[in-house]
Amino acid sequence: MNHFDYGPDGRMACEGVPLAAIAEAVGTPVYVYSTATLVRHYTVFRDAFGARRPLIAYAVKANPNLSVIRTLARLGAGADTVSEGEIRRALAAGVPAERIVFSGVGKTARELAFALDVGVSEINVESEPELETLARIAADKGVRATIAIRVNPDIGAGGHAKISTGKADSKFGVSMSEAERLYANAANSASLDPVGIACHIGSQITDLSPMEQAFRAMRALVERLRAEGLAVQRLDLGGGLGVPYFDQPDPPSPAAFAAMVGRVVDGLDIALAFEPGRVLVANAGVLLSRVIHVHERPAEAGGEGRRFLVLDAAMNDLIRPAMYDAFHDIRPLVRPSAGTSELAYDVVGPVCETGDTFTRNRRLPELGSGDLVAFMSAGAYGSAMASEYNSRLLVPEVLVDGADFAVVRPRPTYEDMLARERLAAWL
Ligand SMILES: Cc1ncc(COP(=O)(O)O)c(C=O)c1O
Repeated sequence: MNHFDYGPDGRMACEGVPLAAIAEAVGTPVYVYSTATLVRHYTVFRDAFGARRPLIAYAVKANPNLSVIRTLARLGAGADTVSEGEIRRALAAGVPAERIVFSGVGKTARELAFALDVGVSEINVESEPELETLARIAADKGVRATIAIRVNPDIGAGGHAKISTGKADSKFGVSMSEAERLYANAANSASLDPVGIACHIGSQITDLSPMEQAFRAMRALVERLRAEGLAVQRLDLGGGLGVPYFDQPDPPSPAAFAAMVGRVVDGLDIALAFEPGRVLVANAGVLLSRVIHVHERPAEAGGEGRRFLVLDAAMNDLIRPAMYDAFHDIRPLVRPSAGTSELAYDVVGPVCETGDTFTRNRRLPELGSGDLVAFMSAGAYGSAMASEYNSRLLVPEVLVDGADFAVVRPRPTYEDMLARERLAAWL
């Protein structure tokens, strides 16, 4: 459920704010996030676990906007981070260090030292060289680093090969047997304090069975480690729960997910943690865009004609379709009246790449220059991956709360963009 819907006047609003009013005030393209949706998604996820009260470490990479992080942090969320920048964002948004998890396959020595200095709750170590580097840095600082070992259970899942992380040939984590060896090594190190194991097998997962298989393997690993006399207090089961993007079967609900987890960990005395990203923020955001024009290319000998809906949003603002063939529902901001004819469009942006195509042959109500559309479910991995490619200004972000809205990342000016660079002295 989200809070983007057509009102009685036929105009799409986010909570109490007509989206066209935001487009007018801020310009397009622009991301718009709904506080009520963020709150709802977080509380549904949290409440699904009832008395277990796991650490819900929001995966900041999904949407690192400070106001989004703060909205979730106020509800008690922690943060799953993968860089010094993300740790800094989480802290700046008000997430206490003791609720920050630091993951990632290639943490630099500087980043590890920073994480120790600010006292994150746990560093999820993904390889033997990282374990050695961290042990050395912690020893130099005279501290013990609290760690979990990230396990790669060799079970793949997720909505696309590029977001599946749990197979043995992916770069993430160590094998089950490696995890056992590294855990024991860490327990013998004066500068490491292994407290748990972690896994994350992929993103946009719409079938619970690979997750259940992976979680059962994680439980078995906890039991093996404990049988060896090693203390294991925490089990971090990652993120990955999928959301409805309209072209896929409905993903399992957080309640079904939590029930499955409950069955897997039944009787195991352990503190649970999760790293949900997409499931908290995807449906809490839309990308608004305006039609620049419709470009009709008539059929020529042997070819098909095309009808291009050229928008002012492009792949630099929302790269998911180009990168993962991702589907986003596209809706006009004015509800089409019953019986409005639909046309097939190739929906494209102005960037000079054929890949700057959001979708082909999408049937949409007839649209023309100046009309506004919303890319639905764009709150996760949307603005987070935006760039200035083609020297387009970084897309702004707006947060709605009831009848109020705030620009939480303004659109930079061209002067801002140019001022970030320096001409080489010899030019
Ligand atoms: C380690 C880790 N945790 C959590 C997540 C969040 O995944 P999702 O947004 O699918 O919940 C990711 C995403 O790639 C990840 O790599």
